[in-house]
Amino acid sequence: MAKDHTDPIKDLRHNTAQPFEAARAMPPSVYMSDSFLNEELTHIFSKDWFCVGRADSLAEPGDYTTCELAGQPIIVIRDRDGALRAMSNVCLHRMSTLLHGRGKTRAIVCPYHAWTYNLDGSLRGAPGMTRNTGFCKDAYHLPEIRCEEWLGWVFICLNEDTPPVAEQLADVEDLVAGYDMTNYTETFFEEHVWDTNWKVLAENFMESYHLPVCHAGTIGGLSKLEDMVCPPGLPAFNYHTILKDDQLRIAMAHPSNDRLKGDERRTTFLLAIYPSLMITLTPGYFWYLSLHPKGPGQVHIRFGGGMSDDYAGDEDAQSNFEALKTLLDDVNVEDRGCTEKVYRGLCSDHAVPGHLSHLERPNYDFAQYLMARLEEGRAD
Ligand code: FES
Ligand SMILES: [Fe+2]
Repeated sequence: MAKDHTDPIKDLRHNTAQPFEAARAMPPSVYMSDSFLNEELTHIFSKDWFCVGRADSLAEPGDYTTCELAGQPIIVIRDRDGALRAMSNVCLHRMSTLLHGRGKTRAIVCPYHAWTYNLDGSLRGAPGMTRNTGFCKDAYHLPEIRCEEWLGWVFICLNEDTPPVAEQLADVEDLVAGYDMTNYTETFFEEHVWDTNWKVLAENFMESYHLPVCHAGTIGGLSKLEDMVCPPGLPAFNYHTILKDDQLRIAMAHPSNDRLKGDERRTTFLLAIYPSLMITLTPGYFWYLSLHPKGPGQVHIRFGGGMSDDYAGDEDAQSNFEALKTLLDDVNVEDRGCTEKVYRGLCSDHAVPGHLSHLERPNYDFAQYLMARLEEGRAD
């Protein structure tokens, strides 16, 4: 019961004041408390760039996806001129949400009274509105939200002052330049909700320490702790690398790929771009999770992936990828089990965070990032 009275910010400040060599996992209060979640929504998700997916899956005019970012319903849509736009997903009549899920549309039609918007957010028409003397169609335009594309990723941001994505992530671009992330095409996209805190899932992604055990039924046997490299993180992201066994051929650089040399040809990068975009980038395929909290105990997951275009011309490209998707689904079942168990465990009165392995360096850096953001937010 004592945990109800602890101050999660104070707990995290104490936790992150330790050097990495003596670090422990983050305290339970930062996962469980509503007040900490509110701080995250206000100072992190309302300020930082959030990834909604890949630009190539929104290729044609009218292709759209929707999301909720820090409580704000948002549409991301390709307009008639081919530009990606993000805008408020709230009708300007009696404020219903407009579009839901993903799809393709010729116009944005409100499901309540059919006020109809063009793909650029301007109001095209509204039935039965000729007698209101104040109503002027041209005065209505869905509010725009910042939207930027970077190496094929689509990001949105609610804050006008946040630096552009390309500026914030210039170091990521340099780090994986040889992989050329624009050279991958999305072949699947799904949305899920798991019963765990978003940070538990983010942290699970950040360390490959759990692979041999949690993933014993799938990729565990292919993953050696001694082949994992976990350098210190940078301000906007952390990463680690693993060497993949060439049994998984499509994780290797394609023979036609002359951008990657030596061990790079079988190196997988695990990129955790703050706050919540997790990318597994292999020379042959990629997959990602873009996470958003749904209360302290649930996480909303945008899960997508696909192949490097180097593989697109191969006869067995499709069957290889189908096999990979099946494997990823099995791996996800294992991750879901582990991360939901962690959430249940950390809610216990007896939960005590233990020391971190050197293979959990990215987790330490993530905690430092969270603390820095929350302190900055409080100072404003
Ligand atoms: S609320 Fe959208 S048309 Fe009425
Ligand atoms: Fe995992």
